[in-house]
Amino acid sequence: MPTWSIPSFAAWIEPRPRAVSLALCLALLSACGSEPDEIDADVIVIGGGIAGLASSLEASASGASVIGIEQNSVGGGHAVMAGGMFLVGTPLQESKQVSDSPELAMADMLEWGEDAVTDWVSRYVEASRTEVHDWLVNMGVEFALLMPAPGETSVPRFHFTRGTAVNIVVPMMRTALARQNLQWRFNTIATGLRSLASGGWAVETRDTRTGKTMTWRARRVILTTGGFENDLDRVRANWLPNVAQPERLLAGASHFAQGSGLDLGIEAGALLTRLDHQTIFVTGLPNPRDPAGVDGLLAQNPSAIFVDREGKRFMNESAPRKTLEQTVLALPGQSYWLVFDEKGRRRLQVRGAPWLTRDSLEQEILGNPALVSRADNLEKLAAAAGLPADKLALTVAEFNERLALGEADDFGRFGPATTTRPPSPLSEPPFYAMPLYPMTRKSMGGLAIDERGQVLDGEGRPIQGLLAAGEATGVAGINGSYGGSGTFLGPSVFTGRIAGRNAADAPGTERAVLAELEPEITTANKLLDDTALAALLQNSREGYWHFEQAHQLVRERDWSCTDCHSPQWPTAQAHSANEKRVQLESCTRCH
Ligand SMILES: Cc1cc2nc3c(=O)[nH]c(=O)nc-3n(C[C@H](O)[C@H](O)[C@H](O)COP(=O)(O)OP(=O)(O)OC[C@H]3O[C@@H](n4cnc5c(N)ncnc54)[C@H](O)[C@@H]3O)c2cc1C
Ligand code: HEC
Ligand code: HEC
Repeated sequence: MPTWSIPSFAAWIEPRPRAVSLALCLALLSACGSEPDEIDADVIVIGGGIAGLASSLEASASGASVIGIEQNSVGGGHAVMAGGMFLVGTPLQESKQVSDSPELAMADMLEWGEDAVTDWVSRYVEASRTEVHDWLVNMGVEFALLMPAPGETSVPRFHFTRGTAVNIVVPMMRTALARQNLQWRFNTIATGLRSLASGGWAVETRDTRTGKTMTWRARRVILTTGGFENDLDRVRANWLPNVAQPERLLAGASHFAQGSGLDLGIEAGALLTRLDHQTIFVTGLPNPRDPAGVDGLLAQNPSAIFVDREGKRFMNESAPRKTLEQTVLALPGQSYWLVFDEKGRRRLQVRGAPWLTRDSLEQEILGNPALVSRADNLEKLAAAAGLPADKLALTVAEFNERLALGEADDFGRFGPATTTRPPSPLSEPPFYAMPLYPMTRKSMGGLAIDERGQVLDGEGRPIQGLLAAGEATGVAGINGSYGGSGTFLGPSVFTGRIAGRNAADAPGTERAVLAELEPEITTANKLLDDTALAALLQNSREGYWHFEQAHQLVRERDWSCTDCHSPQWPTAQAHSANEKRVQLESCTRCH
């Protein structure tokens, strides 16, 4: 049961129509700029992922008025699904006797990324402890686990909370709710961006539920709209240099990762850079719940061997991720099969959707012949999977034989010279073959920015009053050509804070309050029941994507409405600050 908070008087203020904000401005003249009828806020942040949250918190901390605009009905962006953060010189590392330094971290990042933007790497490794780690810990984030990232770093630096990075963004959102000079507006998509003759920017928006359009004006705009990895056309149009286009490509990034911020930037004259730097995973499994067959889940099995379409092994299956990606992307067709036996079945891991449990994995994935072939012997397995039967049998026989004799394999996975435990032979039927495909993940290029987070134009000059951060900038090129573990979330916070700070301390910024306190909006306390919910879910509606995803899961798990909803957060859209705060207590139930 969640702890229900006591209703507070502090209100969650819905932004007002322009006429009202003008009236307020006139009433509180000191709080408004020289053009009281022009400006809604000092700063508008577009995109409420981890970078946008960091920007909005930083800008509002110095007193600037900030409006955040987010197209989803909830904040957090990719971070709610993501894992850990690359951080350098933390108390957690010290407690595990890990001795780290910015110099060591910089050498690791430059080597792994190959063509990283050195200045940003240097800034990040110097500041990640204070600007990212300490800042988040002061907001209530707890880093509890340190994970290795094999082959990537010389010491462990991959920091996790006790769960996904939802445990990082929820404390940030809670902090945001307590700020009177910061308002996040959800279900609002930014559709246009233009500069004003008087200086400053106008942002056009559309309410994704009502269709209502609005124009918001601010002195500064920060674009934190994330990457473009769910727009497969844009991904292919900017495909990795010297790599053939895959026949089948899955989307492994969010529904909202459309790169719309790049289009807004282009409208404003921005330079785009390094768009062909993208993290493409090769562990993609088609999501059986996506009828279009485009959405990808991430599949791994440490007991499996990998075979190509000739039925032959082609690499050390335990090699670092970068080697795996380079090897698979160079295969003809760029897909391969995980082959495992009944013992190995238990070690299959699939991640990437909240509905995944051991039961749903058994039924919807292992029991789904469109995704996994299963057979009592290798000959039938090869026939079901479309692989050459004689070759597959030979491959498995050789693998088993060398293991039995204690000999080394051809790829360095096991043998007398390797220190890791050898795999088990593939001997216990039934046998499984699961084809995997390349899958998009992270953008490492985007809007070009300078060291203050200002967006650059085609001539490399800063565009006045336009800033950007996070994956919309390809996290400033910090990853070079190869993304590391945790090197997106940390740099998103870092670049977010830089943009937020510089947007707020521009000359002419007023220390404004956005609006006065108003009494809490009382929504009807009526509790909708499951039947009413089923009716609501029958047809999907624009602007309700998250509500629908979440409540399909509620129904599937047979949860009771009062597990999350309460008199403080009735089963209706959350309006007041208090309702929003209670809503945040539910996020970790699913994420
Ligand atoms: C499944 C997964 C796992 C990952 N795991 C890790 C990990 O372990 N460690 C790590 O460091 N990184 C990881 N990453 C990458 C990392 O999560 C992202 O790079 C990071 O969260 C990006 O943050 P962001 O705020 O820049 O963008 P996003 O999180 O993408 O947020 C952008 C927000 O902007 C909104 N938006 C977009 N366009 C508009 C518009 N026009 N108007 C209004 N709103 C708009 C979107 O709805 C979204 O909420 C992972 C990514 C994925 C997909
Ligand atoms: C595990 C937590 C959880 C449970 C259980 C749950 N909800 Fe929700 N509910 C949420 C979250 C989170 C939101 C906000 C979703 C969003 O805005 O995207 C929400 C929002 C809603 C909304 C508002 C939709 C809108 O118009 O914005 C309704 C209605 C609702 N829930 C009904 C129900 C009903 C009825 C039940 C019981 C059958 C239920 N919920 C059970 C978490 C839960
Ligand atoms: C009842 C379950 C449930 C609850 C509670 C819930 N979510 Fe979700 N959420 C989902 C599902 C399911 C998805 C879709 C995931 C997918 O893409 O497969 C999702 C997706 C998201 C996404 C998009 C992820 C991305 O990669 O961009 C965000 C952001 C998000 N949730 C935030 C929240 C926040 C914030 C809360 C708490 C206020 C919350 N969710 C509560 C089930 C839930």
